Amino acid sequence: MLKDLSSYIKLLENLTSCVLLVDGDFKLHYANTSASELFGISTKRIVTTNFKQLFHYHSIDLHKILENTFLSGNDCVQHRANVVFNDGRHATISLSARRVELDNQLLMLLECRSLNQELKHDQASHQMHQQSAARNLIRGLAHEIKNPLGGIRGAAQLLQYESDQQEREQCANLIIEQADRLTELVDRLLGPNQLPNKEWINIHQTLESVIKLSLLDNQHKIKLVKDYDPSIPDVFIDNGKIQQVLLNIVKNAQHALNKLAELGTITLKTRVKHHVRLHNKAFKNALIIQVIDNGPGIDEALKETLFFPMVTNKDGGSGLGLAIAQTLIDQHQGYIECDSWPGHTEFNIYLPLSMEKP
Ligand SMILES: Nc1ncnc2c1ncn2[C@@H]1O[C@H](COP(=O)(O)OP(=O)(O)O)[C@@H](O)[C@H]1O
Ligand SMILES: [Mg+2]
Repeated sequence: MLKDLSSYIKLLENLTSCVLLVDGDFKLHYANTSASELFGISTKRIVTTNFKQLFHYHSIDLHKILENTFLSGNDCVQHRANVVFNDGRHATISLSARRVELDNQLLMLLECRSLNQELKHDQASHQMHQQSAARNLIRGLAHEIKNPLGGIRGAAQLLQYESDQQEREQCANLIIEQADRLTELVDRLLGPNQLPNKEWINIHQTLESVIKLSLLDNQHKIKLVKDYDPSIPDVFIDNGKIQQVLLNIVKNAQHALNKLAELGTITLKTRVKHHVRLHNKAFKNALIIQVIDNGPGIDEALKETLFFPMVTNKDGGSGLGLAIAQTLIDQHQGYIECDSWPGHTEFNIYLPLSMEKP
């Protein structure tokens, strides 16, 4: 415990967050140094000012703060508000309000932070990752196209001077094969082009098929744990497509676990989540399918662009698995996300769920 009251003031004055005290009319009673710096007003002048007069423009919901916090005593948070100060500077801030009673007077403690630096940093980092993903995509594509092209050119050259009919046929077949390989590549890049063929399916049956298929090449003895919620009703999905998505995710996990010295575990979990927003639409119920592994985690360099095509760190990997998975889940009005740190990787798939069949 600090003995001296002035020590607490010193703490407040040294906070990098802005701290302000206002009353029910938003008249300022106190502002710490960070606040006076952000708002461009001296700490002395601040106590004669109204909070509303600090701005040329703001999108802070003062009415809500007054209603919720000052009158009702609930905390209020606005994660992003745009403000323009009187001197023309502008900022994006986050702001929270809490009611406090000091010296028998009801006041509101406002805390705020400028998000300018963070937003700029996020934007720059996002752009950098996009660029690097685009470069990788082009490099990967070039590589995939050059190989069959080389084959086609070689076979055509041979064909030019070959008189033996059988040899000529072989060359022609090789050209056809490589051309098909290119077509297949383009098709895969364009993604699934048929609309999903949906039917009512028990998701646990789909998961059982995925497990069966993935166990076919489970050389490294990976433990599979099922954590199903048996009360989940049938879902309206394209079984083949959702199976393809899950199989790719489980296979990726198997691949990651093969690097582990100890026994790897993959957990398949199903749950119902209430009140979920998917594709900007509110759903009362959603199904979550989780695939969790205890492998080394997603490579940091891939994380930001994991769902981009041709993002891979595997020899001979196409990097298309998760890109296609995202398209297929999109086609189901669902959402796929990934969270990962060393020793834990989880892919969460959200699908809309109606509790009764129409
Ligand atoms: N469970 C996981 N653990 C670690 N890394 C993963 C996992 N799942 C996916 N990844 C990473 O994501 C990359 C992209 O996966 P994917 O799109 O399926 O393409 P591919 O399997 O052809 O590489 C993989 O190369 C891998 O580096
Ligand atoms: Mg894959």
